Amino acid sequence: MASERTFVAIKPDGVQRGLVANILGRFERKGFTLVGLKMLTPSRPLAEQHYGVHRQRPFFGGLVEFITSGPVVAMVWEGDGVIAGARALIGATKPLEAAPGTIRGDLAVDIGRNVIHGSDGPDTAQFEIGLWFQPEELNSWTPADHSWRAEA
Ligand code: RTP
Ligand code: MG
Repeated sequence: MASERTFVAIKPDGVQRGLVANILGRFERKGFTLVGLKMLTPSRPLAEQHYGVHRQRPFFGGLVEFITSGPVVAMVWEGDGVIAGARALIGATKPLEAAPGTIRGDLAVDIGRNVIHGSDGPDTAQFEIGLWFQPEELNSWTPADHSWRAEA
């Protein structure tokens, strides 16, 4: 499986609840590689572009209001199958339907406070990485223990 990159963000509720280390650790322990990381309070234009696909949905206004309400931790993770793999770690959109062991399944209850975002496919990942990060903010590197996690 080819190495790819995906965009992940710990939403304001995850930051406020002190879940940053817990969430970051799950991606690290899984074996994905962190190539971009920063904290920022998203502007309204950034949030509206990020969730632009939901513009016509009734929850759009509240979603943008929430995501701009405080700092988020924005990340880019790299690895074989990381786009679907990150979504699997994150769990279903509705936390009560998310499997135990997933981030939302373990750490959340409410769909509007589901602690984390992850790109839902290759096109979205490319768009969201470009939206949130400048190219020079991304680090290409190979972890020293890479060969103990994957062949070649
Ligand atoms: P995300 O984009 O944040 O990673 O979440 P997702 O792919 O699992 O779900 P998506 O359908 O993209 O929805 C984006 C976010 O909008 C909120 N939402 N609220 N009240 C509602 O019916 C409703 N539906 C979606 C959720 O916070 C969801 O994460
Ligand atoms: Mg989504």
